[in-house]
Amino acid sequence: MTRRLAPDSPGIDTAARLLAEGERVSFPTETVYGLGADARDDRAVAGIFAAKDRPAFNPLIVHLPDMESAERYVDLPDSARRLGAAFWPGALTLVLPLRADAGISPLVTAGLPTLAIRVTDHPLARALLARFGGPVAAPSANPSGRLSPTSADHVLAGLDGRIAAVLDGGPCAVGVESTIVGLAPEPVLLRAGGLPAEAIEACLGAPLAAAPSPSTSPGEDRPNAPGQLSSHYAPRGSLRLDATGARPGETLIGFGSVAGDVSLSPAGDLTEAAARLFHVLHDLDAAGVEAIAVAPIPDHGLGRAINDRLRRAAAPRPA
Ligand code: TXA
Ligand code: MG
Repeated sequence: MTRRLAPDSPGIDTAARLLAEGERVSFPTETVYGLGADARDDRAVAGIFAAKDRPAFNPLIVHLPDMESAERYVDLPDSARRLGAAFWPGALTLVLPLRADAGISPLVTAGLPTLAIRVTDHPLARALLARFGGPVAAPSANPSGRLSPTSADHVLAGLDGRIAAVLDGGPCAVGVESTIVGLAPEPVLLRAGGLPAEAIEACLGAPLAAAPSPSTSPGEDRPNAPGQLSSHYAPRGSLRLDATGARPGETLIGFGSVAGDVSLSPAGDLTEAAARLFHVLHDLDAAGVEAIAVAPIPDHGLGRAINDRLRRAAAPRPA
């Protein structure tokens, strides 16, 4: 049984104690729920991969309370300091050169010479990090390849019995995962996410290079750039993109002028649509819907993250 912890001081204390004991604890961030463990503890980190059935070559993000604490683990070039000052705490993850003396479990980085770090602005996550006092490795708290969780109920639907506890902070405000930028040292957009790429480019005063494109063959799912697995974020049902109407048997997810059976945002608002995306897909999963179609989503701002998740949800799946 996985414990559901209340979002109060005793709940945070219990979550921090479980982390210190080497357990896995899910906690809310502004993007999606994470599945946390002590990033310095090989056994604890191995337990994350086991609970999620996550391939061991796919590295994890380390969550830290602030940019200052990041200096213990990574080299921070000027561009990283600029982005951190502008957007942390927030929905941004930076991939930076790992320091030799970082003390982070090599399972976290999957042996890469870089480490992904993020400073979340969710008050419960920040309270947990402060109480625990160390680096917390945390991927999204879903079985590998499935929909990311934006509520404690979603976490339990996927991982009940496989993790010690979930700290229940209600629904996540942003609803899609953080934007990941690589800086080694050229800035590369590794994953579109909750912070629009346009804002990052404006801060850097330079365009972000595109990540190397993912493998599209389900048999070759080892990514050339991690985070680029082709089939991912998948609901149980099939998914058809850019639909302006439902075919027989399909449930249509609308947006703006495409009404649909359910809508990501009747007003055509991308922030609202991102916040609702995984909720709507989880609900259709729970209802046993087998064929889903989704309206076109504009490909700018948060729409880039939404379209990225939808394309992966629609991608051919490994057998
Ligand atoms: O919003 C988020 O980022 C959430 C919350 C919990 O923080 N976390 C999250 O983690 O989405 P996850 O594991 O589901 O996605 C992290 C992605 C993975 O696709 C992984 O391949 C990539 O980050 N990644 C991690 N370390 C990396 C590295 N050193 N180089 C390149 N990509 C990396
Ligand atoms: Mg994930």
